[in-house]
This record gives sequence, C-alpha cells and structure tokens, in this order.
Amino acid sequence: MERIAIYPGSFDPVTNGHLDILERGLKLFDKIIVAILTNPQKKFLFTLEERIAMLEDSLKDFSNVEIDTFDGLTVDFAARCNAQGILRGLRAMSDFEYEFQMALMNRRLNREIQTVFLMTGLRWIYTSSSIIKQAAQFGGSIKGMVPNIVEIKIKDKYAQNG
Ligand code: PNS
Repeated sequence: MERIAIYPGSFDPVTNGHLDILERGLKLFDKIIVAILTNPQKKFLFTLEERIAMLEDSLKDFSNVEIDTFDGLTVDFAARCNAQGILRGLRAMSDFEYEFQMALMNRRLNREIQTVFLMTGLRWIYTSSSIIKQAAQFGGSIKGMVPNIVEIKIKDKYAQNG
C-alpha cells in the first residue's frame, strides 16, 4: 500500500523549515501532497498563485511531492487524497498547544487519519513565516532562512507595498 501524507499549511511563504519537515517526512511516506490553504477570509501576504509558484520553484529537486490547494476541512482534503497521515512540524513548545488541539479535533472528525508530528532541525526551531516576514519588512536579512526565490519575492513585495 502506498503511504500518503498531506502537509497542510498557509505557506505564506514557504521557508527552509518547511523544506526540512518535508525531507524528513519523505523518509516515512511514499508521497507527500503539500496542501496550500486558500481560505479567502484569511489575510495572506502572498496571493495563492504566488505561494504556489514559490513552492514549485523550491520543490523542483524533490521527488514524490505534489502541490495542491484546499479550502474547508483538512481531514476532508486528506480523505480525498487517500492519505493516511497529516504531516505537521513542531518547533518550540509554543507550537504544542495549538497543534495538539488541532490534531485532536482532526482525529475526532476522521479517525482513519493520523497526525504525524516531526521535529524540525535545530536550525529552524525559532523560525516561522511570520517572524521572517517581520524581519524582511523592516529591512533585516533573511538569507539562509528561506529558499532564494522567496528571499527575492519578499523583498519585491515589501518594496511594492512601501
Ligand atoms: O501554516 P498554518 O497557517 O499553521 O496552517 C494551518 C492549517 C492550514 C493547517 C489549519 O488552519 C487548517 O487545517 N485549516 C483548515 C480547517 C481545519 O481543518 N481546521 C482544523 C480542524 S477544525
């Protein structure tokens, strides 16, 4: 049986921490579907098209990874993909409460699908899309924290937005 996981998130934008989790996840799953949340009510810095394009570029050397988009419940998307797992990364303890709540709710909603948490590499423990955007917004260097394409696109975005 093919082991499939979805890796859901906002990916606004994708970071090296996300890529680290994907690499680790690929050691456990035959295929991982990166599932980008489209939720129009949520305010993202990048449009859906921009988030997809950055992921496509960042994942061009990865095998067994697909990119898709979803709205609604994560477990419903996972079921549509015939996935057995939902992959999430854990960094510092501060992630735990939110992730724990979400994993338990997801399990209640669909008992066939298991959430699998992987620890990021130590280098990424304190990085997140939000903190990286904040640093970039005020001119801080984010080199080495995001794929090259993302570094360029964030700079462009804040230059456009003033
Ligand atoms: O990258 P993020 O923003 O931490 O990802 C959050 C995400 C997309 C995984 C979460 O918001 C989500 O699963 N949203 C879809 C709605 C859902 O299924 N929520 C959990 C159970 S109510």
